[in-house]
Amino acid sequence: MPTILIVYYSKTGNTKKMAEAIAQGAKEIEGIDVIVKRAEEATNDDLLKADAIILGSPTYFRLPAWPLKKLIDESIEVYGKLRGKLGGVFTSTATHYGGEICLRALRDALEEHGITVVGEGVIAIEEPSEEEIETCKHYGRMIAERLKNLKG
Ligand SMILES: Cc1cc2nc3c(=O)[nH]c(=O)nc-3n(C[C@H](O)[C@H](O)[C@H](O)COP(=O)(O)O)c2cc1C
Repeated sequence: MPTILIVYYSKTGNTKKMAEAIAQGAKEIEGIDVIVKRAEEATNDDLLKADAIILGSPTYFRLPAWPLKKLIDESIEVYGKLRGKLGGVFTSTATHYGGEICLRALRDALEEHGITVVGEGVIAIEEPSEEEIETCKHYGRMIAERLKNLKG
């Protein structure tokens, strides 16, 4: 079954809530498997097995937090092997400006692998509001639908 992997880091729980909402949205689409992992637990093997990879991090100094960056840097070992997969990005941040830069960094990392990032990604300001949770669910559904159209 086509699989979506959502990998996130979260210290105070905000990005985790976004990851869970994106997973919930994606699970609404039949015939798609959804796996959620913390960045500290994710491996290159997980990246290889997934058909879509969605990365989420709190914005730290306008950038992804280091556990996410560690996973990204270590993915050099599978460079060239993730080409053609779908991707997605999300962040929780104090300011929209910082979040945009963080999202850009996550997107750039996926694009450097030849992964096609769907849409603009999602930003939540600190703890996601109900509206931001809905946006996360919608983003998950959107990526799952795109994957189903490609692989289903
Ligand atoms: C070390 C650190 C650095 C941060 N740097 C930024 C920043 O550059 N810009 C910003 O808007 N928010 C920044 N924040 C705020 C976090 O992005 C925000 O609190 C986020 O919701 C935390 O997500 P989490 O609950 O998933 O850990 C920073 C927070 C910490 C702890």
